[in-house]
Amino acid sequence: MIFKTVGNNMSQLNSPLSFIAAPSGIISGDITVPGDKSVSHRSIMLGALAEGITHIKGFLPGQDCLATMNTFKAMGIKIEGPDSEHNVTVYGKGLHGLSAPSNLLNIGNSGTSIRLLSGILAGQTFDSTMDGDNSLNKRPMNRVVNPLKLMGANISASNDGTPPVVCQGREQGQLLTAIDYDLPMASAQVKSCILLAGMYTNGITTVTEPGITRDHTERMLTAFGYPVNVDGNKVSIEGGHKLTACDIQVPGDISSATFFMVAGLIAKGGELTIRNVGMNPTRVGSINILKQMNGDLNVINERMAGGEPVADIVVKASKLKGVNILERDVPLAIDEFPAIFIAAACASGITRLRGAEELRVKESDRIQAMADGLTILNIDCTVYEDGIDIIGGQLSSGTINSHDDHRIAMSFAIASLRAKGNITILDCDNVATSFPNFVSLANHVGLSVTES
Ligand code: S3P
Repeated sequence: MIFKTVGNNMSQLNSPLSFIAAPSGIISGDITVPGDKSVSHRSIMLGALAEGITHIKGFLPGQDCLATMNTFKAMGIKIEGPDSEHNVTVYGKGLHGLSAPSNLLNIGNSGTSIRLLSGILAGQTFDSTMDGDNSLNKRPMNRVVNPLKLMGANISASNDGTPPVVCQGREQGQLLTAIDYDLPMASAQVKSCILLAGMYTNGITTVTEPGITRDHTERMLTAFGYPVNVDGNKVSIEGGHKLTACDIQVPGDISSATFFMVAGLIAKGGELTIRNVGMNPTRVGSINILKQMNGDLNVINERMAGGEPVADIVVKASKLKGVNILERDVPLAIDEFPAIFIAAACASGITRLRGAEELRVKESDRIQAMADGLTILNIDCTVYEDGIDIIGGQLSSGTINSHDDHRIAMSFAIASLRAKGNITILDCDNVATSFPNFVSLANHVGLSVTES
């Protein structure tokens, strides 16, 4: 059952939330976006497994990260917050301090939670079962189950490789086996799952990546004093060390910022400053691509905060042009393509994306979901197994199915800036998984989005 909480309209329970986005013109202001989702998840996980008390600032109070938090509470970890300033305190119990949950662990919509937790639960002495909502329960889990089985874990997914993920507890003192693993796909979730399981082995586990993926796990393990060795595309971790509690400062989420970068670029005018955005080099693909499209994006005040680079981004309305997206930017922008596709629809000429088959197994099949929505809005596009061609044009009005995917919903809300009439977006409840204040921030900078 879904409750409408965005906009505090608790009187209309149970009916799915829609957005009605009307055309608007100028985008301007000075904003911050909520905390990074990937960093927020990891701060709870490592805080729970650390010895001592971890203080987190800037935690993302989205449903996905709250699902991670509730899972650790269900395993006996005391966690306070998030308070109104997004501070969280985690009372860690060490690598072997989790206790058996009394129920099935419901992970909601969060792929990061279920995949990283698989690596942690594989090393525990108690049984556990995880599943999630309709979207998560369709997503592939064998990508983590297979390497964990190689490590000796008693773990399985359902016959078609989807949740539930069922993990049998190990005998007291029985460690996992360290492995050398070549990742079959560029996935930070799979890499992180194996590294976390690697803490429960008595050897050195090495993961080799086919392309660069986000490195928040490696950075945060280091911040918690757990040694990790990075050598080119190989990451190694040795079992048997410990995590020591520390203070974590979560940067603003570049994935959330990208919706506002695109909004600022496709607007008819105005200047928007987005402050305190995480600029981890493994995440800056959207900035590279939007600049390549002629976007006027200025990255200023670059600094370090809590082990992650951050900066402010100044965005000005720009005449965008279509580009061939470089394959090296694909994993660096993997969550940002729905928003980038809207930029492409507003650019002159063709934008081509290839090598992005991972988009088909996100919260929705993002290649098809975006192509369907763009077609409804009269934008020409051709779908490929691993990408899409989009020809820029004039967006019309229409009704779009978000496929229950937060990033599809927010992308089409932004598209309204350049549409001929209203865009209605169905099933937007999931926006609260990653960006609870999206609508108010969108209206604050000059978009016109109402909830119904
Ligand atoms: C994430 C990794 C990415 C990304 C997801 C968050 C993470 O998934 O799409 O939103 O926090 O590790 P993949 O590892 O499947 O690419």
